[in-house]
Amino acid sequence: MPRPIEALVHRAALAHNLEVARRRAGDARVWAVVKANAYGHGIERAFPGLQHADGFALLDLAEAERVRALGWRGPVLLLEGCFEPRDLELCSRLDLWHAVHCSEQIDWLAMHKTHVPQRVFLKMNSGMNRLGFTPAAYRAAYARLAALPQVAEVSLMTHFSDADGPRGVAHQLAVFDETTADLAGERSLSNSAAILRHGQALGTRNDWVRAGILCYGSAPDFPERGIADWDLRPTMTLQTRLIGTQTLAAGDSVGYGSRFTAERAMRIGIAACGYADGYPRHCGSGTPVLVDGRRSGTVGRVSMDMLAVDLSDLPAAGIGSTVTLWGQGPGGAVLPIDEVAQAAGTIGYELMCAVAPRVAMHADGD
Ligand SMILES: Cc1ncc(COP(=O)(O)O)c(C=O)c1O
Repeated sequence: MPRPIEALVHRAALAHNLEVARRRAGDARVWAVVKANAYGHGIERAFPGLQHADGFALLDLAEAERVRALGWRGPVLLLEGCFEPRDLELCSRLDLWHAVHCSEQIDWLAMHKTHVPQRVFLKMNSGMNRLGFTPAAYRAAYARLAALPQVAEVSLMTHFSDADGPRGVAHQLAVFDETTADLAGERSLSNSAAILRHGQALGTRNDWVRAGILCYGSAPDFPERGIADWDLRPTMTLQTRLIGTQTLAAGDSVGYGSRFTAERAMRIGIAACGYADGYPRHCGSGTPVLVDGRRSGTVGRVSMDMLAVDLSDLPAAGIGSTVTLWGQGPGGAVLPIDEVAQAAGTIGYELMCAVAPRVAMHADGD
């Protein structure tokens, strides 16, 4: 029998979360962002849940091929565009739209031999300072692209650095508006945090929004707000079982480094999940878990293949009990991935992308 750990992908929850994005996006069309193998869910597993999106946005050409292989004929956007000139051939063959963020990418397009002009999203660096043309260079890049026979349509995009936090989007929005006011073309500005938090400020500026993390049931602005506040549902459950129990006396310690010492007699369970499964080692004692759907916490250090959980208030729990590390537990209980991420000093994005290959992952219903 394999180790009892598994990850489940919930397609109905993906579809629900996508609907939340759609409601918040007004008239804008919605890209489901499926980069990083659909944020660790698996593109093929997630696709049926996201198939009502207006398009799919991603980074890797190989992932774009997988989306096309699933039969998707609609828009596919490469968020970072091409990495080298020959990528443009695949863009032509697979009918991919692509971001253009630097002058080298325009040079490649100008040399590209094609009879089918391509659609590009010209990216502005409006303050994130990651990818994109500065406002000062943006209009010249736009003019260059618009004049190329290889280009069918130029759309405008930018990316917010602080849509999830106190700084907000106003400073970048002002830069974007000032630079693009009289430029023709569809616009794409919002990521999940902007979709959820800044709908009013953005008004009708977006023709396309880029919904990533919200589709996957994590709140971009946790802990200020959680998934329940945004009506989002967990799309991935990491679950395992107890494979052992121990009864501790006061003063007994647990695990490597004796990081937890029992203050009184207590029972603990040993769950088949460790950092080699993608569970973060940095989670300290008290990180929330569900045991048979009831909330408890970890005790001691997470080891490679095991972690310990407190069974003090769970006398019925024992070997075989279900342990939910994050996601949907038995009886409708929910443990948002954001709570575990916070205990590990990270964000839900990282945990869902890092489930280890040795963990069997399947969609519920499959
Ligand atoms: C350009 C761009 N758009 C959209 C997204 C989606 O962001 P989120 O998952 O926060 O919605 C990302 C993710 O990093 C991105 O790089």
